[in-house]
Amino acid sequence: MQKVAIYPGSFDPVTNGHLDIIERGLNIFDKLIVAIMHNPVKEYLFTVEERFDMLSTTLKKFKTVEIDTFDGLLVDYAAKRKAQAILRGMRAVSDFEYEFQMALMNRRLNREIQTVFLMTGLRWIFTSSSIIKEAAQFGGNIEGMVSPFVYQKIKEKFGRKD
Ligand code: COA
Repeated sequence: MQKVAIYPGSFDPVTNGHLDIIERGLNIFDKLIVAIMHNPVKEYLFTVEERFDMLSTTLKKFKTVEIDTFDGLLVDYAAKRKAQAILRGMRAVSDFEYEFQMALMNRRLNREIQTVFLMTGLRWIFTSSSIIKEAAQFGGNIEGMVSPFVYQKIKEKFGRKD
């Protein structure tokens, strides 16, 4: 049986930290479905279409990665896609409480689906989509933290030509 995992998130935008988790996740799972989900507490800079576009371009070399969008309960989506697992990255201790709560809630909602955590690569421990957007907004150099395509899209969003 194919081992399939959902890698869910906002991806506003996808960063090299996400990419690191995806590459390592592919060593464990036969297929990864990167799912753009909706986190009700967040306000997004990029539309779902823009986020989809950035993910597609950044991940096009991976043949066993699919990109999708879903607006609903994560475990329902995982069941619909016949995935056995949800993949999440864990950065610092500060992520733990939120991730623990979400994993336990998802387990209560559907006991068939396991949450698998990978520690984020050391290089990306302090990376987040928000901090990259904030730095870029005020002219900080974010090269090397996102793919060249995403870098371009962020610059366009903030109206920078350099
Ligand atoms: N390296 C660097 N940064 C990382 C990272 C990594 N490996 N993994 C996560 N991050 C960052 C992201 O950039 C993001 O940063 P930001 O907050 O500055 O934008 C942050 O960590 C967490 O974001 P993300 O992983 O995208 O998750 P999220 O918290 O935005 O979304 C959902 C969580 C979408 C999975 C969750 O809300 C969900 O499941 N929604 C569907 C509804 C549902 O089922 N709810 C019940 C769940 S119990």
